[in-house]
Amino acid sequence: MNLSTFQQVSCDTVNSTLSQVINSLPDHAKTLKQAMEYSLLMGGKRMRPFLVFATGKMLGVKESDLQGPAAAIEAIHAFSLIHDDLPAMDDDALRRGQPTCHIQFDEATAILAGDALQTLAFEILCNHPLSHDLALKRIDLVKIISQAAGYNGMCGGQAMDLAATGHSVTQQQLENLHSKKTGALLIACVEMAITLASEISAENRQHLMSYAKIIGLAFQVQDDILDVVGDSSVLGKPQGSDQAQLKSTYPALLGLEQAQRYLEDLQQQALQALRALPYNTQMLVSFTDFVIHRHY
Ligand code: IPE
Ligand code: IPE
Ligand code: MG
Ligand code: MG
Ligand code: MG
Repeated sequence: MNLSTFQQVSCDTVNSTLSQVINSLPDHAKTLKQAMEYSLLMGGKRMRPFLVFATGKMLGVKESDLQGPAAAIEAIHAFSLIHDDLPAMDDDALRRGQPTCHIQFDEATAILAGDALQTLAFEILCNHPLSHDLALKRIDLVKIISQAAGYNGMCGGQAMDLAATGHSVTQQQLENLHSKKTGALLIACVEMAITLASEISAENRQHLMSYAKIIGLAFQVQDDILDVVGDSSVLGKPQGSDQAQLKSTYPALLGLEQAQRYLEDLQQQALQALRALPYNTQMLVSFTDFVIHRHY
């Protein structure tokens, strides 16, 4: 399977799980449900589900066992984007080519939609069928996502991002911030797939986790670069938002060219980690290429 077919299949699979979950919600808070559906199902590249499926399949995990983790991480991601766009945070009006959740609905609804998508992720992890022999792994999956989404991961990173806005930071601080706010969820994708794999050596686990850390950081470095060189109509979000808000980003810290060079460096490091693995890493190699060279 080539990258775009695999991407399409993971996208369709996760969308179908997510729409079933949303459709099964009762209608006592219709606007909130609409806002959740809007932010979860209207577009998005589905990179995190892709990473869950690509890593899991490479390790021999059944696709049906990857569906819950893939849907759960995407629900957390959608929650993070809704709150990231709020006036109190990045104050952005465009997301995935549409008005952001708080513009389309209202601020209170957007806050609640983020909250409810976060807990929905854990409902999915608890309820989605898993093969009998993996039943005990459910608690590990919950632990991985809760740590990646919370204080030690995305939320902590977002707080560091806000604290660094309008201030200068060192490259080490920026790497730490990016690794938490964005890296943590991508690392969780790989970690969940590893957890469901029946056997993987400690050494291979380490190579894969190094890969995840590098690609998680690279993902945000390219996002920062796209804020400078991208086009709003392609990005589906406002170009120049970071610069307007004096965000601490790689191009702001290193300059555009150095940031691009650093990203190429990360690409080489990521590929090196993959080369150390005794598996067919073709899909992860393509994923790496996509993350580094994407235009949106
Ligand atoms: C955007 O993530 C926010 C970051 C963590 C950089 P994506 O680029 O994966 O956004 P969608 O899901 O495709 O819209
Ligand atoms: C967001 O980083 C990371 C999240 C946890 C959502 P950005 O603020 O750069 O993401 P975009 O550019 O708005 O998608
Ligand atoms: Mg932000
Ligand atoms: Mg933002
Ligand atoms: Mg950004």
